[in-house]
Amino acid sequence: MRALILVGGYGTRLRPLTLSRPKPLVEFANKPILLHQVEALVKVGVSEVILAVSYRAEQMEKELVLEAKKLGVKMVFSHETQPLGTAGPIALAAEHLTKDNKPFFVLNSDIICDFPFKKLMDFHKAHGKEGTIVVTKVEEPSKYGVVVYDETKCIESFVEKPQEFISNKINAGLYILNPSVINRIELKPTSIEKEVFPNMAAEKELYAFELQGFWMDVGQPKDFLIGMCLYLKHLRTTDPERLYSGPGVVGNVLVHSTAKIGKSCQIGPNVVIGPGVVIEDGVCIKRSTILEDATIRSNSWLESCIIGWRCIVGQWVRMEGITVLGEDVIVKDETYINGGQVLPHKNIGDSVRTPQIIM
Ligand code: GDD
Ligand code: MG
Repeated sequence: MRALILVGGYGTRLRPLTLSRPKPLVEFANKPILLHQVEALVKVGVSEVILAVSYRAEQMEKELVLEAKKLGVKMVFSHETQPLGTAGPIALAAEHLTKDNKPFFVLNSDIICDFPFKKLMDFHKAHGKEGTIVVTKVEEPSKYGVVVYDETKCIESFVEKPQEFISNKINAGLYILNPSVINRIELKPTSIEKEVFPNMAAEKELYAFELQGFWMDVGQPKDFLIGMCLYLKHLRTTDPERLYSGPGVVGNVLVHSTAKIGKSCQIGPNVVIGPGVVIEDGVCIKRSTILEDATIRSNSWLESCIIGWRCIVGQWVRMEGITVLGEDVIVKDETYINGGQVLPHKNIGDSVRTPQIIM
């Protein structure tokens, strides 16, 4: 089987991290977001993954070719010369997707869940129509594609980002489609959510597969951290061995084997510490991700933060309120940052008391 992953788009909502790395390569729980998906696809027998890329393609290609080899999957890069939206890339990759005349998966690249690909495939085959989308329930449906369906799970309507409340069931960004769907898509910038799914729903050709368990679109910092908490909780029940335990560790914490943690720290609940990270003595970190090679100097206190690659956070610093440091930021000793989004390579020494972008 084949799968197409939509990895274009600028990832603007995950800035400043996406100023250094394309969104699908940003590490979520110590692994590029995209690889969580590719691994799950490989597990159900997908042998070829087509990556629909429109932006920063070279960086993506360089890093992923190696990973594909390790996983034993063929990776094809389908380059757009202009962004083709969420449906256009399917038309562009038609040649690859129709090779075996079998249904194929299509995925948004910023989704985290316990990927249900096998069950999705079985459900799709059983109803026999053109497409199935995975749906989940959320509290704020207006940020998503909203669906209404009947008791047989046949979708009656699909509305992208509705202004008014229709339902709390939303498109989770994972689909399985028959090759015939390609005939519905022209090779030009096209939205699958606005231009393809509503028509398929009207023709009763689109079904909903209800997702069990956690789900999150981790394409913005607030949701990235919520997704991290959900993922770690899931690990606790499915693979507790991978979670870290040691002195000063509270709740669900993931620590890379090459990270170093000092004395008298409190790490957790809900913390991910990346490779090569150094946490000095007396540090307290809650509900945060610390990316590769960052250093947190002694006695600092962090809550709800994403610390970018190679950052240095000084001593007695306090950071909270969804603070995101881009790559290689230096925060001087005793600084206070609340809700700051700090652009890469900055030095900051003045406290930031209200949420803002620091450039
Ligand atoms: N190749 C390519 N080209 N990919 C693109 C392009 C493009 O021009 N534009 C966006 N993408 C990719 C993004 O990288 C992402 O993986 C996916 O398409 C969806 O784009 P987002 O920008 O993340 O959309 P969204 O989060 O606002 O909404 C989508 O996801 C929701 C679930 O998280 C929609 O599919 C909603 O219906 C859905 O509920
Ligand atoms: Mg998204």
